Amino acid sequence: MSLISCRALSKSYRKGPNLVTPLSALDLEVPQGEFLALMGPSGSGKTTLLNLIAGIDSPTSGELLINGQDISKLSRRELTRWRASSVGYIFQLYHLVPVLSAFENVELPLLLTKLSRRDRRAKVSAALELVDLADRADHTPAELSGGQEQRVAIARSLVTNPALLVADEPTGDLDRESANRILDLLRSLTRDHGKTIVMVTHDPTAAAAADRVLHLEKGVLLETAPGPHP
Ligand SMILES: Nc1ncnc2c1ncn2[C@@H]1O[C@H](COP(=O)(O)OP(=O)(O)OP(=O)(O)O)[C@@H](O)[C@H]1O
Ligand SMILES: [Mg+2]
Repeated sequence: MSLISCRALSKSYRKGPNLVTPLSALDLEVPQGEFLALMGPSGSGKTTLLNLIAGIDSPTSGELLINGQDISKLSRRELTRWRASSVGYIFQLYHLVPVLSAFENVELPLLLTKLSRRDRRAKVSAALELVDLADRADHTPAELSGGQEQRVAIARSLVTNPALLVADEPTGDLDRESANRILDLLRSLTRDHGKTIVMVTHDPTAAAAADRVLHLEKGVLLETAPGPHP
């Protein structure tokens, strides 16, 4: 079954007198458990599509089913609640809170839930364990390497146990070795934990780690052969 199903999905922005339409009548099916890479030139609408899938932005028209539910029909309030439990977002520049420890950063999404302090601690510890950073729980972002910061951000995206992870250039700011570690982690999240991942990347090596690669060009999705690209 598809976890994500986009049908004739369109998004337009009004920019002064002009209408910008990064996505126009886009169709996309992402099966449960797939690791999908999304490539395409700058301005082709990749982040726009991720934001729609993550419920951060709403489509202008079309249908967007996540796990069978049309999230384009949810109210703002319902969408906020849905997002908190169903999707984790990973950013290129991590977006950790500088004054909080790794532990406190990962705990943040759980402060919006009714979990007890004790249950929160258990979940944060498990998430940090999963990204192999249990020994860095007390470090602030400035005391971590870029790769470690991204792993903390991944732990934060996972701590509410969402079925879906979206990642916008998660390795874009990392050296090859740290990037590979992040890609191995993402792969294991699909393989061993059943997560569905949609990852935007400009890096062909990163894309090659995915199960499938789609190219977004002028609002149209084209499939390319999987595996390493030139
Ligand atoms: N909030 C907004 N208001 C107006 N126009 C927007 C808005 N967000 C995006 N756009 C426009 O939509 C188009 C697609 O933007 P988007 O950020 O999705 O591209 P992208 O593929 O992620 O590019 P990049 O690889 O540079 O990150 C661009 O032309 C952009 O200017
Ligand atoms: Mg972008």
